[in-house]
Order: sequence, then C-alpha cells, then structure tokens
Amino acid sequence: DKGPFILGIETSCDETAAAVVGRDKAGRAAILANVVHSQIDEHAAFGGVVPEIAARAHVEVLDDLVRAALSEADAGFEHLAAVAATTGPGLVGGLIVGSVTARAIAQARNLPFLAINHLEGHALTPRLTDEIAYPYLLLLVSGGHTQILLVRGLGLYERWGTTIDDALGEAFDKTAKLLRLGHPGGPAVECAAETGDPTRFALPRPMRGEAKLDFSFSGLKTAVRLAAERAAPLDEQAVSDLCASFQAAAAASVGDRIARALARFREELPEIASPVLAVAGGVAANRTIRAALEGEANAAGFAIVAPPLKLCTDNAAMIAYAGLERFEAGRLDPLDTPVRPRWPL
Ligand code: KG4
Ligand code: ZN
Repeated sequence: DKGPFILGIETSCDETAAAVVGRDKAGRAAILANVVHSQIDEHAAFGGVVPEIAARAHVEVLDDLVRAALSEADAGFEHLAAVAATTGPGLVGGLIVGSVTARAIAQARNLPFLAINHLEGHALTPRLTDEIAYPYLLLLVSGGHTQILLVRGLGLYERWGTTIDDALGEAFDKTAKLLRLGHPGGPAVECAAETGDPTRFALPRPMRGEAKLDFSFSGLKTAVRLAAERAAPLDEQAVSDLCASFQAAAAASVGDRIARALARFREELPEIASPVLAVAGGVAANRTIRAALEGEANAAGFAIVAPPLKLCTDNAAMIAYAGLERFEAGRLDPLDTPVRPRWPL
C-alpha cells in the first residue's frame, strides 16, 4: 500500500522542479522523488535570469517533470493526499505556471491545494533531512535572500536579520561577472579562490561589530571592483587572489553576524539545551563560508545542520515537505489563492 503522498511543484526562479514526499512507517519524512530541470543554459548568454524566458521554459518542461516525479515515486495521482506549489516570492510568470499546474491537478483529482512560501520551504528543509525539533536558528543564504530566522514552529518565523542591499549569492554572482568567470558565479568564484591568496587584497568586512543582525554586501562588491581596476590588467593569479580575498571577507562578515545571532539565541531561549544552527540556500555549499559557520557554531556549543547540496539549492522536495507539514496541521489553502511575487515570511 502506498501513500498518502504530497506532490510538490517549484517554479519561482530558474529551476523547474517536481517532487513527491511522504512518511515512512516510523513517521519519518521520506523523499520518494525529487527531479529538477535547471534553466542555466537558457539564461547563460544573458548573464542572469530573464523572467520571460524562465516562464516559457517552465511551461515547456513542467508536465513531463510531474510525470517523471510520479513515475520515480512509483505512484499515480490516486496516491496523492494533496498538491503543493510555490506561490511566492519569486518571478510572477513562473509562479503562475507552477501554481496553475498544481491547481489543475488538485481540481481534477479533488485534492487539497497548498500554497507554499518558497522561503518556508528552505526554512523547513532541516526537518526534512535531519528531523530537527523546533525551535532552531536558520541562516538562509541564496541568490535572492540572506536572512537569519528563528524558526519557532510551523508558520512561526521571526526574522532576526536580513540584507540591507545585495544577497550574498548575488555578491558572488556579481564578483564572478566582473572577473568574467561565468554564471552562476558562486561555484566559479570558489573554484578560482582555491589557488588564491586570501590576504593579497585588503577588503572590508561589512557590518562587523554591528549590534543589529543585518547583512550588507554592496560595499564589498564595490571594493572588489576598485581592487580589480587598480590591479588591472589581471592575470590568472590575480583573479584567484581577488576571489580568495572576497570569499575571506564574506566569510568573516557572515561569521561575525552568526556569532551574534547564536549569542542572542542563548539569551532569549536559555531553556533549549541542545541548540541547532541550520543553514540553507545555494551559498551554504561554499566550503569557506561553511567553515566560518562551523567555527562559530562549535565555539557557541551549537550543532550545525547543513542539508545535502541538492536540498540546499532550489528544489521541489522542500515545497512538498512544507506542504506535508501544513497538510498534517490542516492548514489547506483555497484553490484561488493568489501568487505573491513579494511575500516575506
Ligand atoms: O538557493 P539557490 O539555488 O537559489 C536561490 O537564489 O533561491 O542559490 C543560488 C545562489 C547563486 O547566487 C549561486 O551563485 C550561489 O547560490 N552558490 C554559491 C555556491 N554554489 C551556489 N555561492 C558560493 N559558493 C558556492 N559553491
Ligand atoms: Zn531558493
């Protein structure tokens, strides 16, 4: 006997994704299928995501992806308990494509619909992969978001800090673009930094020592540009040194912010004996950033939970899982729930 399963659909940016999530007999969350089609190639020539191209590409592949996810899960529509789709925040065209598909399946099969906030998907991923209990602290670092969240419970999110300008992933992407390393920039910068000297260029450590838990990366981006101009023409070694110096500055800034957040958690939730710092978002894949976070977590007595990369970056398993928690809590959404391009948690 199968199911009941939740079908999840994610189309908020440049990945088209479908997944099937359920629970095993012991009640643990189980990913039965998780398929992603990245549009990186479609957007590569433009150096960033083009909304119109993204929406059309979602239309082209989504039906096949949903079928592929169900077949990978060895399930049919009859095994579904509900259908979940990202309805924000993100690019409106993509949000409409994904959620209309989910609504149509829900309508045709007479299933409940779950309108999921993409950020909630990221925020709950540590519970999907590691069965983390509420509450926990979450650092979300992606191309669009850089936030510190206290996750108190389902739907109970306190934002302790956010970026006042660029997201960290965006800073990586812009640094890569400036140094002509290609898109997406994060992995390219990390790779170039491997053979670089992180002390060659003196770059600012944004927000270090600030009492508020916010982030800022646009000053660092400008400092990278000025350093590149001063050192021009850049040979391969200079590019590597600049990448390594940028990464070290970003990691120091993130480490400083997180150290403060961990101290605040201790102060506000002294009853939590085994506190957890979870990380999510594509930038969590970066080993220098991760090492800085691990150092601060160890020093403050926090366990650190970093989901596998495939679940850190955009995917539909996290949407299906958020849907599962909402379904179990009876928090269903009307079929005509609007999409929300801007939707803070
Ligand atoms: O979470 P994600 O897949 O998508 C959203 O933005 O929601 O994150 C993508 C971001 C991009 O900015 C990408 O450059 C960055 O994560 N990224 C990295 C690395 N891998 C991906 N940044 C630094 N180092 C990496 N290894
Ligand atoms: Zn994301």
